[in-house]
Amino acid sequence: MAKNFIWGPDGVLPRIEEHTKRKLDVLKNYLDIYFDTVVRNPAQDRLNITLVDGFSGGGAYADGAETRAGSPLVLLNAVEEAATRLNAGRAKPLEINARLIFVDDEPEHVAALRRELRGRGYAADDPRITIFEGTFVEHLPTIMQQITATQRKGRSIFFLDQFGYSDVPMSSIQTIFKSLDRAEVVLNFAIDSLLNYMQDASADLPLYRQFGIDARFVADWKRRKDESMGRALTQRALMAHIHTYSGAKFFTPFMLWSRTDNRWMMLAHLSQHQAARDKMLGVHWQEQNSFIHVGSGGLFNLGYDARLIESCDSLLNFTENDRTTLNKELVNALPSEVHRIMNGAPLEVSRLLSEVGNRTAGTNDDIFHVLSELAQARELEVLSAKGKPKRAGTRISVKDQLILPSQPTLFFPAKW
Ligand SMILES: C[S@@+](CC[C@H](N)C(=O)[O-])C[C@H]1O[C@@H](n2cnc3c(N)ncnc32)[C@H](O)[C@@H]1O
Repeated sequence: MAKNFIWGPDGVLPRIEEHTKRKLDVLKNYLDIYFDTVVRNPAQDRLNITLVDGFSGGGAYADGAETRAGSPLVLLNAVEEAATRLNAGRAKPLEINARLIFVDDEPEHVAALRRELRGRGYAADDPRITIFEGTFVEHLPTIMQQITATQRKGRSIFFLDQFGYSDVPMSSIQTIFKSLDRAEVVLNFAIDSLLNYMQDASADLPLYRQFGIDARFVADWKRRKDESMGRALTQRALMAHIHTYSGAKFFTPFMLWSRTDNRWMMLAHLSQHQAARDKMLGVHWQEQNSFIHVGSGGLFNLGYDARLIESCDSLLNFTENDRTTLNKELVNALPSEVHRIMNGAPLEVSRLLSEVGNRTAGTNDDIFHVLSELAQARELEVLSAKGKPKRAGTRISVKDQLILPSQPTLFFPAKW
């Protein structure tokens, strides 16, 4: 086991690595935005949610002379901070009814987690917290049953921070999305380890086949000429497979570099709702250089993309310069996409977001901005939800509709 993740009986905490800090920052930022978004309505007085940490570890790390929260404490702190933040200035108090489920298959890690929680004042019988010792897969049926028994929509976040790529089967992710409409999964996946260990025989193993890896996939990987481009392309094809087999509608694959292991890790966010994906994307822009998203930021297809071979600078790093490039790419790519999807009829902005959501590094605000530019250039017309024309330059909303302009334009030369 990697020594940066060993919690022993002596109580000595493992030293936290840089990429683990980044990963936990992303989790924390996402949870903050998540709670702020789902409790927008001042009349709402209760939020039921289950937070599952399927690979919880021992709860804390050493960071120099300081102690740093591991994922179970990041989850607990996020709930408590959200309750304080969201109740400030509220006439009607909001109760966040959160259940936290922690799972780890290493008895010493479970013992360390219990110690850490006790040390921070959580009672051993705290009704909000359940700790399971054993594998995530083994405990998933019970977890699912607990969620479905008490939560109609199954609002939940599963943080699945496995070591490699073999402890979260695609079938488990499908189980989650089949039964829980409001579930989201944040999956750690050692994408480079999988590629580095892949051999001809892998194509016959269920472990690899569940990710759509067959003999052709392995042969393409072995035939690569340019190491870094070949790797980027294969990573991308693998992401497309994982998305397909996960059963999630939305998939945001972002990459995290591990300096210790010299390889890329993928932190994938999976959900059934475009709004959830948009929030995660916002976090990636916030975190900037820590994550490198492979591919252009405008509109792209997951899987093989020849542009990656032609142009190495189609690597997007989430910096302000990239935002400018992204904007230009979207201005060029969106009109034909809008036209294709609308197919002659008015197109709701929400539908456009759903359709392009998986294929851009742009957030909804980026897309609104570009639509507004296109409306000002009279390339598109925007109608309010009630069908009334909106003045070009007014803020676009998800409920608006897009129609083609009555006059031919640069992007739409003929009237359709
Ligand atoms: C990367 S560490 C988790 C770190 C933790 N999520 C954090 O951010 O602080 C992975 C943990 O998963 C546990 N583990 C390994 N295989 C597992 C499995 N199949 N099911 C549940 N836990 C597992 C290990 O004992 C280890 O504590």
